[in-house]
Amino acid sequence: MPLDSESKRRLATHLEYYRELGIHDFYRRGDAPPAEVIPVLTAVAEPPQPGGDKREALAAIRAEIGDCTRCRLHQGRKNIVFGVGNVDCEIMFVGEGPGADEDQQGEPFVGRAGQLLNNMIQAMGLRREQVYIANVVKCRPPGNRTPERDECDTCGPFLMRQVETIQPRIIVALGATAAKYLLGVNDSMSNLRGRIYDFRSTRLAVTYHPAFLLRDPRQKAEAWKDLQMVMKFLGMAVPGKKKEE
Ligand code: URA
Repeated sequence: MPLDSESKRRLATHLEYYRELGIHDFYRRGDAPPAEVIPVLTAVAEPPQPGGDKREALAAIRAEIGDCTRCRLHQGRKNIVFGVGNVDCEIMFVGEGPGADEDQQGEPFVGRAGQLLNNMIQAMGLRREQVYIANVVKCRPPGNRTPERDECDTCGPFLMRQVETIQPRIIVALGATAAKYLLGVNDSMSNLRGRIYDFRSTRLAVTYHPAFLLRDPRQKAEAWKDLQMVMKFLGMAVPGKKKEE
């Protein structure tokens, strides 16, 4: 069936996102790798009150964090970066920790890596406003270094409570720090990717951090495979396997 001009415009916008991700091949629905489910045992955080409003529950978590000085990361921060997005989302993305732009604006993934994350989300047929985005640590590590284990352990329980409140259908861990912290394992990205884990009351998949993809764009196609696996798990339409002209 021929496309009208609005559909063509939207298709062109989508293809632009895929190009940005380094994707030139498309797969028919059902061709993505099978979503193997691996159970992971982790401690369970306090669930939200039944029927309790998610926004209120999140506001209570934020209030408990307060003007936090629990770890050394508070020393250089401008803003605590709590998290942003749709509390009724199906997908929650979890990064490592705020960078300079995020610290400045108080919102996760608003810099260059955030722009790429937005493109990844849009390649999935979603908008940033439809998902929830947070980090393992809520204050910027100095010089954007990787957060240390004790910093993750101090801040992580607040993330766990955000997860328990939001109850997304799946979490996408962005990069090794988030993946290893959430899964409680010390494994390589190549071993952690490519499967769907049973995680608390939800599921979890692992993909590359957008900042890593900016440094090594050849891996964008691999990240796209991870996102397709997530889309398949959620029953979302995965783009067809026609070659892009
Ligand atoms: N990197 C992250 O891990 N999180 C952000 O919010 C921004 C960059």
